[in-house]
Amino acid sequence: MSEQMNAAFIEEYGELTNVTTGELPKPEAGEGEVLVRVKSAGVNPVDAAVVRGMLKDAIPGEFPLVPGWDVAGVVEEIGHSVSRFSTGDEVYAYARRPKIQHGTYAEYISLPESYLAERPTNISMEASGGIPLVGLTAYQSIFDFGELKEGQTLLILGASGGVGTLAIQLAKSVGAQVIGVASESNHEYMKELGADITIDYNDNHVGEAVKEARPDGVDLIFHCSRGDSFSQVMETGVLKEGGKVASITNSNPEISDDIEFKYVFVEPNAEQLEHITVLADSGKISVPVTDTFSLEEASEALQKIESLHTRGKLVITP
Ligand SMILES: NC(=O)c1ccc[n+]([C@@H]2O[C@H](COP(=O)([O-])OP(=O)(O)OC[C@H]3O[C@@H](n4cnc5c(N)ncnc54)[C@H](OP(=O)(O)O)[C@@H]3O)[C@@H](O)[C@H]2O)c1
Repeated sequence: MSEQMNAAFIEEYGELTNVTTGELPKPEAGEGEVLVRVKSAGVNPVDAAVVRGMLKDAIPGEFPLVPGWDVAGVVEEIGHSVSRFSTGDEVYAYARRPKIQHGTYAEYISLPESYLAERPTNISMEASGGIPLVGLTAYQSIFDFGELKEGQTLLILGASGGVGTLAIQLAKSVGAQVIGVASESNHEYMKELGADITIDYNDNHVGEAVKEARPDGVDLIFHCSRGDSFSQVMETGVLKEGGKVASITNSNPEISDDIEFKYVFVEPNAEQLEHITVLADSGKISVPVTDTFSLEEASEALQKIESLHTRGKLVITP
């Protein structure tokens, strides 16, 4: 019998309580692959969507299915031709593969080395596991598409969650101004991360509030939330002429064809992760972990993240 490992997994799509814990075969490092001992697996809203089967038409899955696309850990073994990593290296990755089956809610995962980057040493292993998915999402939205520059203003709708936490800090790292939208209870948190202006979306017209704070408008809108904030902002016309809109929650919003819009679906990118490592190691990025869970508590972690009201990152520490 092959070696076994502990993992959280589902045997069919359905309720989050379907996630159970047990033994599955321990993966091996195949050709070009690196076997990582998972120390921290970031919990993301998409993991709950995967368990519910909401992505099954877009990305095929196979059972038993281990959720989780974020990992930080230690290289346990390297496969033939791996050249960038050695046993004992501390790495992290956004581990979305073409098929959903071997996720990061497990003691081990084997990944092509092209997915991996050295993790930041300035922050904890736990926090490192919360970075890849949200960090790359923010990076690809505000830098690749948004081309955010020093002196420009970024408006983030949903700025206190995982993606927003990284977006605020990435924007500040290039000298941009940041307006963060979230509940009042998260305003101090967003300011500590660097937000220049904070706006509460509860009992408030977010568009009017942005207009009052920045009568000249904003250069880039980063839409990371659900609810009415986005339509309120668009109807108020706070986007500067030539400004851009990136959304990660709505692929087809009702906005004018004249506005440069992109729906971003985050892609693995080790080079960008390496850049994030440099920023973290120079003190420009931190990741507050607000809750940690064991593998046995995976279902609880998924229920919590699905609320879309958690601050910073939740991680599983297998
Ligand atoms: N397309 C992609 O590649 C991609 C990648 C990553 C994430 N996503 C999606 O993007 C969303 C955000 O992800 P996340 O990991 O940052 O989630 P998260 O950690 O749950 O954060 C959600 C954020 O939205 C805020 N929020 C909730 N309701 C709001 C409303 N009505 N108006 C404005 N802000 C509101 C929350 O603030 P309060 O707690 O103060 O309410 C919090 O700041 C999720 O829907 C996720 O599935 C997509």
